[in-house]
Amino acid sequence: MILLTGATGYIGSHTWLELLLAGHQVVGIDNFVNSSPVVLKRLEALSGKKLNFIQGDVCDPIVLEALFKKHAIKGVIHFAALKAVGESSAKPILYYENNIGGLINLLQIMQENDCRNFVFSSSACVYGDPEKSPVKEDSDLKPENPYGQTKLMGEQILRDLEASDPRWRVAYLRYFNPIGAHESGLIGEDPMGVPNNLAPLVSRVAAGRMDELNIYGDDWDTPDGTGVRDYIHVVDLANGHVKAIEYIFSGKPSLTVNLGTGVGYSVMDVVRAYEDVVGQPIRCKVIDRRPGDVALYFADPSRAEALLGWKAVRSLKQMCADGWRWQSQNPLGYKS
Ligand code: UD1
Repeated sequence: MILLTGATGYIGSHTWLELLLAGHQVVGIDNFVNSSPVVLKRLEALSGKKLNFIQGDVCDPIVLEALFKKHAIKGVIHFAALKAVGESSAKPILYYENNIGGLINLLQIMQENDCRNFVFSSSACVYGDPEKSPVKEDSDLKPENPYGQTKLMGEQILRDLEASDPRWRVAYLRYFNPIGAHESGLIGEDPMGVPNNLAPLVSRVAAGRMDELNIYGDDWDTPDGTGVRDYIHVVDLANGHVKAIEYIFSGKPSLTVNLGTGVGYSVMDVVRAYEDVVGQPIRCKVIDRRPGDVALYFADPSRAEALLGWKAVRSLKQMCADGWRWQSQNPLGYKS
């Protein structure tokens, strides 16, 4: 049995489905702080399976202990965390309490229950503003906000744990920018409140829920002047987790890998790809740079391919088409 924390969130829900389709047994936990119970029904429809799920918080030891007593959990994929970069600067204690407190609680209970196989949701933001791209895993680690610090600290805690007890096996997965949705249009990203990230904002403008997209600067040192990122289809990312937990279960040593495509696209590339899919122009306005943004970065994903046999295969067009299908079928997200 594999435990997924943050199981009904954006990446958690897509990973849950891919794990079930690959034949794994899964139990999920989520407190719905940034997700919806509707996800459970959608996943049952997509997988044709009855789900094991418990509503609860990874910061609550009683809930986790009960889970480990009830199920023979062999490994954990840990998504549960707060993830809004701006909010993390405004409320750092909340981020450290939740992201670090939850991780420590979970690791303690895993250790007590002789479960030492772990997949950790890290982030490209551990690199901060990388000196060069493609970014390799041995680049300098210098996160620039409390959210990124919680990811780097999480990695450090796990590395100390591994050093103290070689039975621990950890996959450190550093995600680049996940976008898109499952091709069914049944599950996707449903941010609470006003989104901050590019793809959900472009979707909302395309759907007429917002008048125009603010482009944060067109004077960056990039080919078209707008920021460049490594966007990765969320289903490719989910499959990276399936490969990672299977690798860990096979007893191979711990690994740290970038999960990205290796290709950088600009804000304008994303807008144009969306326009192609939607068949109408997306209104944009260039405004000042957003504080804390960087010009460009994209992954070197070759280590993930070499060690996990994993590679992102879905194109930017497909990311936008699937994101748009999700948006059109669920104009108000899971509340639709
Ligand atoms: C941020 C986080 C990253 C997190 C990711 C997804 C940092 C350094 N990184 O990445 O850790 O994993 O969100 O949650 O904060 N843009 C616009 N207009 C908008 C929104 C975005 O022009 O309205 C531009 C940005 O300037 C940037 C690109 O689009 O160039 C992507 O922005 P965004 O989707 O917010 O992701 P990141 O900032 O790369």
